[in-house]
Parts: sequence; structure tokens; C-alpha cells
Amino acid sequence: MGQDEVLTIRGLRKRYRGRRGVQANDGIDLDVRAGQVVGLLGHNGAGKTTLVNQVVGLVLPDEGTITLDGIDAVARPDEARSRASIQAQANVPISGLTPRLAIELVGRLRGGHRTAVRARAAELIEALDLSPWADTRAEKVSGGIARLTAFAMTVVQPGRLVVLDEPTNDVDPVRHRLLWQQIRRLADDGAGVLLVTHNVREAERVVDRLAILDHGVVLAADTPAGLTASWQGTLTVELDLLPGAAVTWPDGARPRGSDRLRESASIATEDAAEVVRWAQHQVDQGVIERYSLVPASLEDVYVELVGAEHAGASAEEVAA
Ligand SMILES: Nc1ncnc2c1ncn2[C@@H]1O[C@H](COP(=O)(O)OP(=O)(O)OP(=O)(O)O)[C@@H](O)[C@H]1O
Ligand SMILES: [Mg+2]
Repeated sequence: MGQDEVLTIRGLRKRYRGRRGVQANDGIDLDVRAGQVVGLLGHNGAGKTTLVNQVVGLVLPDEGTITLDGIDAVARPDEARSRASIQAQANVPISGLTPRLAIELVGRLRGGHRTAVRARAAELIEALDLSPWADTRAEKVSGGIARLTAFAMTVVQPGRLVVLDEPTNDVDPVRHRLLWQQIRRLADDGAGVLLVTHNVREAERVVDRLAILDHGVVLAADTPAGLTASWQGTLTVELDLLPGAAVTWPDGARPRGSDRLRESASIATEDAAEVVRWAQHQVDQGVIERYSLVPASLEDVYVELVGAEHAGASAEEVAA
């Protein structure tokens, strides 16, 4: 393990027993280095929370190794845990406190000095635009503010590894941006960050690497550029259909699915001009309301990988 490795996971397996046994993690390898944000993407029930709960010692693996900042996290969970900070998927209740007091309390519990903790709490409150609610009783703050408070509690005195399980849930779009900036800064300041998210589009701009998890298996792990490389030369066309309309794609377009009144397809970049003419004709004919052409994104890669697996291909075939 190199000096920069903050988290190394090898061959991790976890099965929940009981009437309907679930193989939640099925042989996972994953690395997080200092200074990196590593995103973990995957459908509901893919095994993301199970994975992060094993990293911080809340769930015991059946098999495999977890090395956190040089410590065997399976054998010595308490010691490993002291080197990590986690924002769990469910918020820790802070009734009776205010956001500011809760953030400062965690900072002190994690060994921070009073003045440094106060300054850091004030900095986070400002950076996440929490000031209007910072001194309001926790019972009265909204879900999004509670979520941001939980984030600030996690990072007021961050460990070498920071684990964030869906930190953007319930947060408004403007504060999403403030939150992503703070996540990036954690890594720039030297922490390793493991970020669970469903927010593929936004994560693409913040993460250094991404792992795509599906039914407990890592389908692909690479940089965003590496994951999208095979999509070079491809554009995604999106059409907003008028109610009751149906569209027949031109030759060469590969339909990528539909979502109520929106349909999308992949096209080769050199066909763009022709497709724009075709789409404009559809607008003139009253079939579609509007259209757009965007470069292929990580979201396309994600849908292709996870979609292909659901269509029956084995994980190995999909990852190859
Ligand atoms: N304590 C538990 N007992 C039994 N099964 C569980 C338990 N926790 C999770 N599971 C099951 O394990 C699988 C993985 O769950 P997990 O919570 O890790 O998924 P996830 O990727 O975090 O999903 P989400 O995006 O919905 O949070 C699911 O099938 C889930 O139903
Ligand atoms: Mg989860």
C-alpha cells in the first residue's frame, strides 16, 4: 500500500442472512487516495451503504480486507473509525441543539480546540449559506438544512478519510453547488473522500474517480474521462415530445430510452447537422416541442452499464 492510500478494499463480501438472504457486496475492490474524491454510483439496493458501513465498522464483512490509513479496519474497527468521518445516509438527530452548537460539539468531541472549532464551524456555516438557521433550534429547521448541518458535523474536524452517503439529498440546487465546492476542498486539503451519490451529472465535475456498483459488484472503476472515452465522437440528442406524439428516429440514431415526454438517442458527431435538420422538421410538423444536442456524459455510460447488466449480460462481460 502506497503512502497516499487512505482506503484499500479487497475482495469484500457481505451477505445479509434471513428469510430473503441478500448478497449485498459480492467481491468488491476499491481504493481511495489522499487528495482524491472517489464517487460510488449505483441503483437503490446496489450495496453502497453496506460498503461504507463496513468501512467504518458498523457492519462486519463475511470476507475480504479493509485497510484504512494503514489500519486493518476489520480487526481494529475502533481505531480505524477514529481516522474516518462519516455522514450516514440517515441524519443523526440533534434535537435540543442548534446547527451551530451541533457542529461545534462534534468538533470538540473529535479533539478540536475550542477556538479552532468555533472558527471552522463559522466558516462552514458561511460557506454552505446556513447563517439564517445556524442559531435556530434543530426541531425547526427544514430537511435540507438538517442535511447540510449533518455534512458540516462530519467535516468540522475531518478524518484522513471522509465518507459521505448521499450528502446532497434534500438540498436545494444553489446549495448543491456550495456543497460540491466544500467536498472538493476537503480533498484539496488532503483528505480522501468516498462519496456515495445518485447525482451522476453533478458528481462528474467533482470526482477524480468513480466506481459503478451494481448488485454488489463493481462494474467499472475509472476517471470520468476514462469512463467516457469510448463515447468520444458521440452526441446525445434529447427530444421533448408534444403530448400524444410519437417519433421515428432517423437511420443511424441509437435510441436510448424515453421518460414520459422526453426521448433520447445517441448519434455520431458527423451526423449532427443532418439530425438538427431532421429535428427542426419535427418541430415544424408539431411532433416535438424542442430538441437539444449534448456531448455524451457519464450518465450515458452509467445507463449503458447498468442497463446492459439488467438486460442479462454478466458483470464480467459488461466491465470488459
Ligand atoms: N440490515 C439489513 N438486513 C437485511 N438486508 C439488508 C440490510 N441492509 C441492507 N439490506 C439489503 O442489502 C442490499 C443492499 O442495500 P444497501 O443499503 O447497501 O444499498 P444502497 O446501494 O445503499 O441503496 P440506496 O441507494 O437505496 O441507499 C439491498 O438489497 C437491501 O435490501
Ligand atoms: Mg444507501
